Amino acid sequence: MDIAEFGLERWFAKYEHEADIMLAESGIRSLDASRFDLDPGKLGYVIPTNGDPEFRAEVGERYGRSADEVLFTCGTQEANFLAFASLMDDDGHAIVVTPTYQALHAVPESFGEVTRVSLEPPSWELDVDAVADAVRPETDVIVLNNPNNPTGRYHPREKVEALYDLAEDADAHLLCDEVYRLLDDDPIPPAASLGERAVSTTSLTKAYGLAGLRFGWLVGSEDVVEEAWNWKDYTTISPGIVGQHVAKQALGDQEDEILSENRDLAKRHRDRVRAFVDDHDLSWYDPVGVNGFVSVPDGFDGSREFCRTVVEEESVVLAPGDLFGYDDYFRIGFGLPTDELEEGLARVSACIERRR
Ligand SMILES: Cc1ncc(COP(=O)(O)O)c(C=O)c1O
Repeated sequence: MDIAEFGLERWFAKYEHEADIMLAESGIRSLDASRFDLDPGKLGYVIPTNGDPEFRAEVGERYGRSADEVLFTCGTQEANFLAFASLMDDDGHAIVVTPTYQALHAVPESFGEVTRVSLEPPSWELDVDAVADAVRPETDVIVLNNPNNPTGRYHPREKVEALYDLAEDADAHLLCDEVYRLLDDDPIPPAASLGERAVSTTSLTKAYGLAGLRFGWLVGSEDVVEEAWNWKDYTTISPGIVGQHVAKQALGDQEDEILSENRDLAKRHRDRVRAFVDDHDLSWYDPVGVNGFVSVPDGFDGSREFCRTVVEEESVVLAPGDLFGYDDYFRIGFGLPTDELEEGLARVSACIERRR
């Protein structure tokens, strides 16, 4: 079994450590640990290893699901991995809506076969008929990331329901990675609330600013969750106990404050980046979340050359669009603290102007 190199992670590994400013981080700036009580008591495994049952029941309620339909994981990354392991048969088939986070096509590619269905620029609209055309008798899963990384496109409820219907008719599942969902002020219901054949994955990484907790979950039917738990015995055994302890606080008393702070930051920064895009005659789809997919400025030979120039001349890391299959675009993450965003935009602007 092979897995493709994770292009974006390798790009980060090359530049992130040395660079001054990270304008390629896809989440919101991290919260300080001092906001939380960090003492869960004894540092054992979480028992039962699928997560505290009462807390799972609380999370399940958000989806109209029971505790047994929730599995706590180490981030969305593990939740997605376990979902593919649970849903895909030997030589299975997945339909993946792209561009998207690489793990959402690389993992199913290593388990079986993938058909990619592209969102079309500039508005990155989801073509439900194209997904329908890709369905085969052996299709196991249709994969959507909503809101989408890298484009920031938030597909409306009708489209997600249409994909759910396709999955149901094909005896397959809809897997929806919703890690950016709560950065929208008025999010649509999570996919797992649509019915038995939908699976939602998410975490506290992006919308809550708690990437280092490595706390996420998968919600789906009991069968799917049971099989995912079977795989989890071989990946991380249980979620981290400190992560679960802090997650209870972040999803409890602190939730409203955290989400409203983070949504406010996302909104202010989106306005700021929109002005940058306009100032340089660039284009983007006005995104939900804290990622924008912006056209590469004139004078550069594609996304790689642009991003390499910016990091080498200005010490600012951006994400080249070719890593998502679109060499005419770069991804900018604007969830970082305001002063860093301002400094980063000033440096990128200087680089663009110099080349002009
Ligand atoms: C769509 C998507 N899913 C999953 C992840 C991984 O998130 P986590 O930290 O929850 O594992 C990312 C990170 O960038 C992402 O963009």
